[in-house]
Amino acid sequence: MATTDIRSRIEKLWPKAHDVPGTHDFAPGGGLYERGDLYLVDGEVRKWSGAMEKVYSPLCVEGRDGQIAPRLIGHAASLDAQTAGEAMGAAVRAYERGRGKWPQMKVAERIQCVEHFAELMSGTREEVVRLLMWEIGKSRKDCEKEFDRTVEYIHDTVDALKEVDRSGGRFQLHDGILAQIRRSPLGVTLCMGPYNYPLNETFTTLIPALIMGNTVVCKLPRFGVLCSAPLLRCFATAFPAGVVNIVNGDGPVVVGPAISNEHLAALAFIGSAKVANILKRQHPKPNRLRCILGLNAKNPGIVLPDADLDLTVEQVVMGALSFNGQRCTALKLIFVHKSIADAFVAKLAAAVDALPFGLPWDPGVKLTPLPEPGKAEYLQGLVDDAAQLGAKSANRFGGLSNRSFYFPSVLYPVNAKMRAYHEEQFGPVIPVVPYEDVKEVLDYVTAVPFGQQASVFGHHPAVVGPLVDVLVHEVCRVNLNAQCQRGPDVYPFTGRKDSAEGTLSVGDALRCFSIRSMVAAPSNGANKELLQGVLLQRTSNFINTDYIF
Ligand code: G3H
Repeated sequence: MATTDIRSRIEKLWPKAHDVPGTHDFAPGGGLYERGDLYLVDGEVRKWSGAMEKVYSPLCVEGRDGQIAPRLIGHAASLDAQTAGEAMGAAVRAYERGRGKWPQMKVAERIQCVEHFAELMSGTREEVVRLLMWEIGKSRKDCEKEFDRTVEYIHDTVDALKEVDRSGGRFQLHDGILAQIRRSPLGVTLCMGPYNYPLNETFTTLIPALIMGNTVVCKLPRFGVLCSAPLLRCFATAFPAGVVNIVNGDGPVVVGPAISNEHLAALAFIGSAKVANILKRQHPKPNRLRCILGLNAKNPGIVLPDADLDLTVEQVVMGALSFNGQRCTALKLIFVHKSIADAFVAKLAAAVDALPFGLPWDPGVKLTPLPEPGKAEYLQGLVDDAAQLGAKSANRFGGLSNRSFYFPSVLYPVNAKMRAYHEEQFGPVIPVVPYEDVKEVLDYVTAVPFGQQASVFGHHPAVVGPLVDVLVHEVCRVNLNAQCQRGPDVYPFTGRKDSAEGTLSVGDALRCFSIRSMVAAPSNGANKELLQGVLLQRTSNFINTDYIF
């Protein structure tokens, strides 16, 4: 298609307000979402009557007056410190130093609550999907995938816990000491998810934290706040009072009471290393705070001279541009051997220009508007900076934009003097760096402050093998002839340096949010009799040999 056609389609991107299909809207007649004033504290879904934040969509609409503007989709509660303190107080009371109903509950009973929640949650799918589309501009298909993956994650977590519990049910005997070793909760946990996966990434910490017996305060992300509203009632119904508390508002105000409370035992945060460090420093006893952090990344793609170009281009497009590049796992810098760089860039540029763009509900859409205000300008700043230093957009439509929409730019040839080489763009710009010697790539990987993943494209065992041996000490997952990604969710998801602390996966998360505790006794007649008595009379939830199917 000619550039002028694409330009005019981008100019006409925004629908008339009354043309938005009712099947993709969350309020009849294009009105406001009305449940943004709800929050959850101490088992009650409460209505907030204080300050409210306007929630604008990244999607613009044309009003009857012909004016185009981001659609106001609702208002979100901006809680004050006192109310956030009540949430923390409720979580502390519900945990009650481990004596609360929830941490004392049998694992099988906690599983029942979580399964009940998953069942209730499934009934909110369409409402949540519509809100997600409008709040973060994600395509309908990807919103549905995010929702379904989250429900699946909950079921997988239940299965993993059953396995953990079954192995903890066995008594062990070593050197005359009988022991039963189980995983116990840590205490009160603060969970903070990111805006790019407000549901999935929040739940991959929230659910394991809960199911292990911790109580939780959850602070909703910067964007993607309203999509949690339909779930508040589900939480309130499925869990005992105070076990889950969900708050929203200005970060320092609503997080302050939790992070500065010595009863906070765990922090699960997905965001920037800068904010993670600010949070950690606020805890009065940092040595008591377990941190599970998913932070920044700038995952490189390394294209070797013998790479299969078609496959590599397909994977780089997916890796760099799924959800417009707004994934921590996205490929954010592509190194290509000089001998094939021009051919690779030509194919990549053509593939990027062919991507369908539009609104989240357009069939087959791949590129959509960006939720962060000013993001298109930021990305253009990276492109302009590179242009001054000798690179340019290699694709015809690169950089065409309309308000929150930005057509991806394949920037080439990029070098270390350019901002795009160093900054985590978290958006649709693909910087391509030609290299002569793979040592140049390894120098980058060593110097960069991040260490999450890398992708290697090539087929020579003699080249790939030694490269992997270096990379595995710099990042935590090396993908061969494939994009970087988190899934399957049973695999460890972590990073080195400024990219992560702790490991998430279905199984690892259960370990992260718990600690092994044990009961041990010299294996003599009296102790055996005592343990038998506890088991037969069922006087302990910890000491038991129940088998959960
Ligand atoms: O933003 C980081 C996400 O965990 C990425 O997950 O690789 O499955 O898209 P994904």
